[in-house]
Amino acid sequence: MSLPIHLSSSSEVQTRNEQVPQQGTPIKAYDTLVLDAHLRQSLATVRSLGSRGLRVAALERAELAAHLPTFASRWCQEAFVAPSSEQGIEAYVQYLETRLRATPARVLITSSDGTLEILRQHRERLSRHAGLAIASESALDMAVQKERTLALARELQINVPIGVPIRTSSEVSEAVRTVGLPAVVKPTRSWIFGEQTGVRLNCQLAMTVDEARSAVEQVERLGGTSILQQFVPGRCESIHLFYARGEVYARFAQWAKRTQPPLGGTSVYRQSIAVPEDIGEQAERLVRAAQLEGYAEVEFRRSVAGTPYLMEINPRLSASVEVAVRAGVDFPHLLYQWANGDPIDRVKTYHVGMWMRYLQGDLLTTLQTITQRRRASVPPPSRAISGFLASFLVPAHYDYFDWRDLKPGLAATIDFGRVVARRLRRDFFSRRYL
Ligand SMILES: Nc1ncnc2c1ncn2[C@@H]1O[C@H](COP(=O)(O)OP(=O)(O)OP(=O)(O)O)[C@@H](O)[C@H]1O
Ligand SMILES: [Mg+2]
Repeated sequence: MSLPIHLSSSSEVQTRNEQVPQQGTPIKAYDTLVLDAHLRQSLATVRSLGSRGLRVAALERAELAAHLPTFASRWCQEAFVAPSSEQGIEAYVQYLETRLRATPARVLITSSDGTLEILRQHRERLSRHAGLAIASESALDMAVQKERTLALARELQINVPIGVPIRTSSEVSEAVRTVGLPAVVKPTRSWIFGEQTGVRLNCQLAMTVDEARSAVEQVERLGGTSILQQFVPGRCESIHLFYARGEVYARFAQWAKRTQPPLGGTSVYRQSIAVPEDIGEQAERLVRAAQLEGYAEVEFRRSVAGTPYLMEINPRLSASVEVAVRAGVDFPHLLYQWANGDPIDRVKTYHVGMWMRYLQGDLLTTLQTITQRRRASVPPPSRAISGFLASFLVPAHYDYFDWRDLKPGLAATIDFGRVVARRLRRDFFSRRYL
């Protein structure tokens, strides 16, 4: 796929809505349009591609677009604001199409489960305008449906936690008898379409039958179904692979010392490690069996005895990907090469032992140890706070902060200050007047 690229002399960042160039105005064009600009991995993508001299623009929906670190990056040449979620999925897709006609891009990169679903639903329509850096339908279908992912793993003799699919909340007590407590209520899909827009569903830890039932009911109300899974208490490790054209081009591994929320999700304090032989081989087997091309993050958690259990596969750039990029495995660039039909680099080595920290998330997860005391996966607050402070003594990279590109770090700090002030104000007013 090769679109004509009309270079523009302007590198000013503009945030704007529906603006189509006037007749006679040269059409701007980009190598990549990065969607989901509010995500940390989108900033990592803009930086990775921009610093290589590629022309990059970024896009976000209106409700998430204020004060975005990604838009502040020196490598984000243009910032686009799409209609808000309230206006529905069709409005978003139409905006994307209009945008790409006015401002062509060779490749579209997405990092959220929601936008991935939208691109899948409108794959044919959007791929007329740009290369979509996403895997085939059959591979994505396997990765986003957790029941299918777990079934494939079982077929390949890869351990998965004991689990019971739940159709209605009346089945919870019986399922708890099989699985035991604590347990995890895992939505079978992380993102589902509603009438007009979509909803993100998260895993929840259940310490009691009532908690399990209420978590299942919550998923049910949103139109989803769940699996009740045995809780696996040990270390969270993930394998990141780049697979295409029958070959693995890059392998990377990390472990998460702290996550947000404490059960798991985003790794807020993580370290690059050598690829462990057991899960490295298992992840590769899964990706090859599913023919999951592009980037894939295969997550495992170990039991106390060290046995790995598959948690899930994320078939899009994960929030933690920047540690891989900094350690020398530039996954966003590999995605670009693949989707643009270029030869793909083979990455043989990377820096092991590199720490990376998402400070805002780490602070939040430390504070949550006070409100979530004595729950599984949650250390005592005193240990959490001393761990949080001790981590300042360990050399680490920080998400958003890059000496070559200071503005996103500043934007993230100001935005975090705003969030904290808003929360404090809300707490103050709710105590005083309600
Ligand atoms: N059975 C389990 N035992 C222990 N921890 C679990 C279990 N299932 C999920 N988790 C934790 O919860 C996290 C989120 O679960 P999962 O990855 O299945 O959901 P997700 O919503 O798709 O997450 P992500 O945002 O990472 O894509 C996992 O990374 C893991 O740390
Ligand atoms: Mg996921």
